Order: sequence, then C-alpha cells, then structure tokens
Amino acid sequence: MGRFAAALGAVSLLASIVPAIAAPEPGTVGFTFEKKRVAAKDAPRRMSRRTITAGLDNEILLYFINCTVGTPPQPFSLQLDTGSSDIWFPAANADICQQDIQNCPVGTYDASASSSYVNPNLPEFQIQYVDGTQISGAYLSDVLNVGGVQLTNMTMAAALQANTRGIGIMGVGFESGESAATLNGFTYPNVINVMKNEGKINSLAYSLWLDDLASNTGVILFGGVDTNKYHGDLVSLPIQLDGQTGTISSFTVAWTGLTVHGSGQSSDFSPSEPAPAILDSGTTDTLLPDDIANQIFNGVGVLSDPSFGNVVRCSLADDDLTFSFTFGGKGGPVVNVSLSEFVTPLLTTDGSQPTFNNGDPACSFAIEAAGQNPILFGDSFLRSAYVVYDLENAQIGLAQTNFDSSQGKSNVQAISASGGIPNVVSTASLASVAQSFTGIPRITQSSATGGEIGGGSSRSATFNLTPATATSTSGSGSGGGGSSNSNTASGNFRLERTSVLAAGVVLVGFLFGGGLMFY
Ligand SMILES: *[C@@H]1O[C@H](CO)[C@@H](O)[C@H](O)[C@H]1NC(C)=O
Ligand SMILES: *[C@@H]1O[C@H](CO)[C@@H](O)[C@H](O)[C@H]1NC(C)=O
Ligand SMILES: *[C@@H]1O[C@H](CO)[C@@H](O)[C@H](O)[C@H]1NC(C)=O
Repeated sequence: MGRFAAALGAVSLLASIVPAIAAPEPGTVGFTFEKKRVAAKDAPRRMSRRTITAGLDNEILLYFINCTVGTPPQPFSLQLDTGSSDIWFPAANADICQQDIQNCPVGTYDASASSSYVNPNLPEFQIQYVDGTQISGAYLSDVLNVGGVQLTNMTMAAALQANTRGIGIMGVGFESGESAATLNGFTYPNVINVMKNEGKINSLAYSLWLDDLASNTGVILFGGVDTNKYHGDLVSLPIQLDGQTGTISSFTVAWTGLTVHGSGQSSDFSPSEPAPAILDSGTTDTLLPDDIANQIFNGVGVLSDPSFGNVVRCSLADDDLTFSFTFGGKGGPVVNVSLSEFVTPLLTTDGSQPTFNNGDPACSFAIEAAGQNPILFGDSFLRSAYVVYDLENAQIGLAQTNFDSSQGKSNVQAISASGGIPNVVSTASLASVAQSFTGIPRITQSSATGGEIGGGSSRSATFNLTPATATSTSGSGSGGGGSSNSNTASGNFRLERTSVLAAGVVLVGFLFGGGLMFY
C-alpha cells in the first residue's frame, strides 16, 4: 500500500475518499468518481444559441470527483473535466456563496482555516469557458487529497467572483491549456504534473472509464490502464496541434468517420474531410458539425423545444441502431455508440418527467449541432469509449468500453514515461488536422422549465439506411426520404415537415401547437 495509505482525518466526507479501487500496481492511482444530478442552474450556463434562456431548472448529469483541500481537510466534489487544465473551487467568501450558501453546494475553501495554505504570489486567477462561465479569484497553494494520495504543493484557485453557481472543476488537461497560459503567459504544474513530480505516477497519463448511462460511477486511473475495462484492441492516435499556437493544448483528435448501422444496413454520415474533435468530459452532449447533426436529427425525429432543448420520445432508446465513430485514418480506432446512449433522462428539479401531449415520456437527445463551437465529443460519446489520455507522449488510446467491468475485476498496468500506453495494438497514421478553435470548451446540457411538451410525436428512427455493402458518400439527406421498408426500427413513420435552413439550423414546424422555435 505504501503511498496509498495516506492518513485521512475524521471529516465524514472523507470516508468516501479512500480509494475505491485498491490500486495494486505501483505508479498508479485509481478511484471511482460519481455522476451527480445537478440543477442546470447550478452548473455553468451554456452560451445559448437558442433564443430562449428562460428556466434552467432541469437537472443534468455531471461527473464529480471527491477530494479534500487543506489542513485539516476541507471536503469538495469537483467536476472532472478533460477540456480544461486548472483546479478551482469557490472561496468561502465568494460573492455567490455569500449571497446564498446554497449556491455553493459541493464545498467552499477557507484559506484562513488551513494551516497548509500558502500564497503563491501569482496574478489574479481568471478563467472563461465557451459556455459563458467567467470566474475570477486568487491562486493558492495547499495540500490536495485525491484518490487516496496526498499532493503537498498543489497550485489551485479559489473563486471570488463568478457569474455561475459555485461548483468547482478539476481540469485534467495539458499544462499548456491552463487559463494563465493564454491570459498571463505563465503556466504552473497542474494536478497531473504534480502527481508525477511527487512520485505518485510515472507518466503524465490517465485512463477514464465513465460506464454506461444507467451507472452512477466511473473510474479514473491516473498513471495506468485497466485492460479489463475495454473490449477488443486499444488503438492509439496522435493528439493534434492547435493551429493557432502550434502547440498541443487540448485533447484534439482527427475524427474521420461516422456510420449508422441497423438491421444489416448502414448509412454514412462521415465528415467530408478529417475534422478536429475534442474529447471533453466537461461537456455533457456530443457536438457534431451542423449538417451532420441535422441529418441525424431528421433521422431519429429530434424535436427542438424552447424549454427542453433537443427532445425525443424515450422509447427511441429501444431502436436498434449503432453509431460507429472512426478516428485517425487508416488503422484508427472505431467506437460504437448505441442509439440508446444518446437518449438521456430529462428530469426537472421537481422530479417530474416531461411528456409529449399523447403521454409519451420525453428524453433529451445528447447530440447537438456545434454551430460556432468546436466539434466536441462529450460524455454521451465518451461513455462508450475507454480513453487513455497520454499527455507525456501526446497520444490518445481508444477502445470500445466494457460496460460490464466490475470493480472487483481489474487488470491494471502502469504506464511508463518512455514506454507509451501499454497494450496498444496499433497506431493510426493520420496526423494532419489542426484545431483552429481556441478557448476552454464546456457545454452543459440544454435547459428545461418543466411542464408538458406539445405535439404528440409517434416518430421513431427513420434513417434511410442503405445496404451495408453499398458505398454511400452522403447521408440520408433531410427527412429520411421516406423509403419505408428500409427503416430499421418500428415500421413506417409519418414524417413531420422539416426543412433545413441555410445556416444549418433546423426548423421544426407545427409540432408544438403554434410554438415555432429556432436555434
Ligand atoms: C463523494 O462524497 C459524497 C458526499 O460525502 C458521497 O455521498 C459519495 O458517495 C462520494 N462518492 C464517491 C465516489 O466516493
Ligand atoms: C511548489 O510548487 C511551485 C510551482 O507550482 C514551485 O515553484 C515551488 O518551488 C514548490 N515548492 C516546494 C516547496 O516544493
Ligand atoms: C461496431 O459495429 C460494427 C457494425 O455493427 C461492427 O461490425 C464492429 O465489429 C463493431 N466494433 C466494435 C469495436 O465493437
């Protein structure tokens, strides 16, 4: 046990911080984190392309990691975020926590109560996410306990002003992706660096297993790979440069293809050329190019509701469709995502389940059109993938996740700094997409106000699938075309009238009793 047997104090929350996986492998630190429902108003606001910003009292699922900061330990749950690189949490005297402590539900930091607090004498901390969240505050150095290990000299930030609720974030991205790298021209060792510097892991790398939609926990394994948590081959691909800086500062990979399969048939929705896509656990949905997203929306019958965002009948989850995403060009990895993984719960804060007029329960559809945002592969994609983030060698390892892996069964192998990701069977060849987007992604799920969605919809997936052997270069086009005997799911469907606007914006007409909406 050695380094894992950190002496933990008697704060009640600490009981849950003992590593849930007894990581037997030296040089790895593993533990479970959990998915929590958070009122959307408590999570950073999305920068809405929708015309309506009312409401925000639905609940969204975010992945949280338990940790403590300071001496004696102050407990926190922080949202785990591969799309950013700083750790911040609200200060006890932050404006939002002072207004109402309910604004800061998962921990606040009081420097004066920590004997190990050190002022690192850095400029003001500021961070801005693309969803419009802005935080400012002060850097601090203190002890961080995470996953049963103690990091003694960790630079973090305590927020003093925030335009959002006070739920802190643990960014596990590149040091070069820290907010100060662009705002102030300096960087500092972030949590991955400190884990390596303080000898807890051998290499700047970790693996993330989110498990399926129904599960409430996931596992992050710092410094290692668990071969029991994926199926098939682990394939690596290079992390791509950010075009503007020529450095690597985000988990951008080359996304090359998307095929939708069902009933022995398939339809191709691949981007016309390899596209830069960011693997971002801090974003709830998957954001695809507008034209591709709109074809999918038409295919599965997504309704865009002003209060609830992209909604579908929950029973769509029963349709037997698989989305196959390919990456990295020749020899690159394939990750299959079942349609059901994109049909996510839509719950309001009062616990009610929104329904269509005909009584069908409504669910969120966890794919969005990216619009001005980068292509982001968020939690709705990442749950189906086992992802190894190898910052040391600028590689991503991808495999099909093993949803059935239980904690009892793990086969952990440490990643060495020079050896790269263990058990990688091949490496994709393509290394030529440049990320042009700059900024810190983070787009949480759409908003909801509660109530009943208009217009009963009986639609189910209506992809105009072509036989799998046929080469199809474009998608099914708008509206599914109506070739009824090639539908995969439950028979024939009456298509609603849809049209695609020039800007790649879907307009769904007459579905909501007079409530036309655009976004
Ligand atoms: C995190 O802490 C909360 C609050 O004490 C606890 O309920 C939860 O079980 C913990 N989660 C994990 C994964 O340890
Ligand atoms: C603590 O970390 C900072 C960088 O974040 C470094 O400059 C400083 O020397 C470290 N202090 C100790 C005592 O290790
Ligand atoms: C993904 O799905 C396709 C089509 O159903 C199948 O041929 C392939 O073996 C699957 N790949 C993985 C990694 O599961």
